[in-house]
Amino acid sequence: MTAPKKLFIKTYGCQMNVYDSERMAEAMGGQGYVQTQTADDADMILLNTCHIREKAAEKVYSELGRYKGLKAAKPDLKIGVAGCVAQAEGEEIMRRQPMVDLVVGPQSYHRLPEMEAKTREGQKALDTDFPEEGKFDKLIARPKAARGPTAFLTVQEGCDKFCAFCVVPYTRGAEVSRPSDRVLTEARDLVERGVREITLLGQNVNAYHGHDGGLAGLIWALNDIDGLERIRFTTSHPNDMDDALIDAHGDCPKLMPYLHLPVQAGSDKILKRMNRSHTAESYLRVIERLRAVRPDIHLSGDFIVGFPEETEEDFQATLDLIRAVRYGSAYSFKYSTRPGTPAAERPQVSEAEKDDRLQRLQALLSQQQRQLQDEMVGREVNVLFEKPGRMPGQMVGKSEYLHSVHVTTDAAVGEMRRVRITASVTNSLAGELVGN
Ligand code: 5AD
Ligand code: SF4
Repeated sequence: MTAPKKLFIKTYGCQMNVYDSERMAEAMGGQGYVQTQTADDADMILLNTCHIREKAAEKVYSELGRYKGLKAAKPDLKIGVAGCVAQAEGEEIMRRQPMVDLVVGPQSYHRLPEMEAKTREGQKALDTDFPEEGKFDKLIARPKAARGPTAFLTVQEGCDKFCAFCVVPYTRGAEVSRPSDRVLTEARDLVERGVREITLLGQNVNAYHGHDGGLAGLIWALNDIDGLERIRFTTSHPNDMDDALIDAHGDCPKLMPYLHLPVQAGSDKILKRMNRSHTAESYLRVIERLRAVRPDIHLSGDFIVGFPEETEEDFQATLDLIRAVRYGSAYSFKYSTRPGTPAAERPQVSEAEKDDRLQRLQALLSQQQRQLQDEMVGREVNVLFEKPGRMPGQMVGKSEYLHSVHVTTDAAVGEMRRVRITASVTNSLAGELVGN
């Protein structure tokens, strides 16, 4: 028997890339590959890349440069670039870095095994199509190996919203939903393998239309799966938060009280220029309706500071919106010019101004985050344990609200326990089992 070949995948960017990397590793398992955690002993290196902000391509080229020595020492080593930089740069990658054997865009991963075979014959392989056939239908079924208690499951890809700053509609293509029967089959399979919590992924996951009743319909169908304890979803657009989905946050027992709902900015002038097609007020109304059905829901958001022509007054409107919402967590970015997107052509805010605004925004967000975390002390939560903690006898898991909680317990990974929160420290909580 020949020894298995080794595949090293380095994943950048969003959770969807994490999911895609898992699926690519499984597909390559069919070609006799096992995953390795270092590039040094790999027979194939695959960079699964992200293109959302500036210098993404440059980072990929410099990472590739680091593999030059490995390739020279091991000419059989195959090097591939996948993901959104692959989609955006295409053939250019092989021109600039001739040691790259394979370039595969995010919608063509099911063709990876045949592409790898081609490289073994000494040829280059490039595929950045948006093929008719869905990649997930063609990718081999996930193997039956046991899994940890949490998993991502992509249900929707692509985006038709065309926010003026964003490359996603170009790199991931138009919105496509996976049919719910496939999603439900995959979810049941994950549960059989030990998964207790599934996070549904999509660039615009709440625009999902592969099930009657959209994403809410799918969530209710998942709610019926025995053994599945928790459902989450990300990322959502405010305009696609329909009544059924908002109501599900009040009624659906397995849907967790946490929502990532990016707003990007708080000034209506900037929101309009961003082509967001919602206002600060309409966003706040969605939050109000969510809190009416689920008062304890934790909210998370994405923010961009220094979008072209953003004034100090516009920026203050973002701070006001943040104060009005009170976020449990958040991600914030300086606006980054993406060639080919409409905002790239507009008058830019200086780098110094962007730095200053980002600092002030993050100070406010961290303060809110810490305050909401501190308010958990004394409350009871359910913790799904994910891994042992650093202290002996300790386990770490997540609460309903996605806080990390450290607990001294003999519970195993994958078990859920009722926990009273006793302390709040930087980025996590400590708790004790209820009833002990
Ligand atoms: N510059 C800065 N941030 C961006 N995002 C998307 N495009 C850009 C850009 N050009 C942020 C948005 C989005 C998150 C995934 O990344 O906040 O919600
Ligand atoms: Fe990008 Fe806007 Fe689509 Fe989100 S909704 S992926 S920010 S274009």
